[in-house]
Amino acid sequence: MARIRTVFRCAECGATEPKWTGRCGGCEAWGTLVEEVDSPSAALTVLAPSTAPIPIVDVDPTEFSPRPTGVPELDRVLGGGLVPGSVTLVGGEPGIGKSTVLLQAAAEAASSGRKVLYLSGEESPQQIRLRAERLGALHPRLWLAAEVALPHVVGAIDHVQPDLVIVDSIQTLLDPDLSSAPGSVGQVRHCSHRLVQEAKRRGCAIFLVGHVTKDGSLAGPRVLEHVVDTVLAFEGDRHHALRLLRVVKHRFGSTQELGLFEMTDTGLKGVPDPSGLFLADRRIGIPGSVVVPTIEGHRPLLVELQVLVAGSPLPSPRRSATGIDHGRLSLLLAVLEQRVGVRTSDVDVYALAVGGVKVVEPGVDLALGLAVVSSLTGTALPGDLVASGEVGLGGELRQVAHTARRLSEAARLGFRRAVVPVSAPDAPPGIEILRVASLADAVDQLGLSDP
Ligand code: TYD
Ligand code: MG
Repeated sequence: MARIRTVFRCAECGATEPKWTGRCGGCEAWGTLVEEVDSPSAALTVLAPSTAPIPIVDVDPTEFSPRPTGVPELDRVLGGGLVPGSVTLVGGEPGIGKSTVLLQAAAEAASSGRKVLYLSGEESPQQIRLRAERLGALHPRLWLAAEVALPHVVGAIDHVQPDLVIVDSIQTLLDPDLSSAPGSVGQVRHCSHRLVQEAKRRGCAIFLVGHVTKDGSLAGPRVLEHVVDTVLAFEGDRHHALRLLRVVKHRFGSTQELGLFEMTDTGLKGVPDPSGLFLADRRIGIPGSVVVPTIEGHRPLLVELQVLVAGSPLPSPRRSATGIDHGRLSLLLAVLEQRVGVRTSDVDVYALAVGGVKVVEPGVDLALGLAVVSSLTGTALPGDLVASGEVGLGGELRQVAHTARRLSEAARLGFRRAVVPVSAPDAPPGIEILRVASLADAVDQLGLSDP
């Protein structure tokens, strides 16, 4: 077969070059050239035959109803399961558990009667079998192949005729027609386009694994977000067992859902009731500790925030935030100084969300502010207290969404008092609320102002 002609197109201005160069000849931007197939008609021939337009009411909706994968937390995030013909990208840092969760999903799908093909460019079939044994995921309808070349991958799909395909990972795939290296933007984009066409044509669902770099960018895969139907992000701290599966984009449902897993010796286990998960080892009566009721997706989650302030030998004291937004911590320290009269300019401030979870919503402001003052004054807050509210630059407090649900969950877990903004709705049964207008007001009313 004749080799397909490729060109290098600038991602900024669209100019093309026959060869890769560091700088675009059109707009003179650096490093923007990406290889692609020159004549798109070659790619078009694998598409399904074009269909005549039909009235919207005549479209069969059941054809695309989701089918459960059999991993409940994954199905929750996908809004019930995988839609046939859909392509789902699962992104995450190396070692977070992408291969594990997809192998578990593959085995569950196989045992519910579907044929599954697991294509790996990273591990040999022997390694995958060993892992599957550990996970209890051995099933005769689960097929393996170690392939990296796109034509072989398509050949394997032809051979097995699976209902579900897992490609681990998109960065190892390579179309020999393109001269770029595997993992380059050109290869990643081209290979995934081709796989999307295969999925639509055959009506099989495809999972693509995409590695993400430490700074959070889906290195190659970022360029794929608009190509695939669904993008899931697998997050967590490798040193903690908790893993969060978030929806970044979903063509077939809500992006609000969140899946929670715990990494164990026998794979990932779903965590259906996570609320109290982070509070298990909490010690009451320590200054600097405040519990905040957060909402992740649709799920309430109670998280303990801890702050430690310590005298600093440094001219510009250290601010460390783990699981909390660094910018929000700085902002709160500024608000504390200007609006509450609490100075932290000569102390180091260490703040963290316990349990390896990330809480980035503004609803944690009040709790974080109180934790700083509590640590600074050495006064512990009551153990049965939660705090929820966003702090404005004037030190004023604002209510955050779903306050009632947050407080009900706190009440369910045994908390009896909540500090909330003045505008907050009435308390659910079992919890008493303390309404405060500002951060300064909260500090006063909780007796933190005089150490
Ligand atoms: P893996 O799924 O290979 O990560 P990824 O595909 O995202 O790179 O998971 C790797 C980590 O998970 C590895 O460090 C070991 C750990 N792990 C367990 O703790 N228990 C298990 O049962 C398995 C399979 C992996
Ligand atoms: Mg892997």
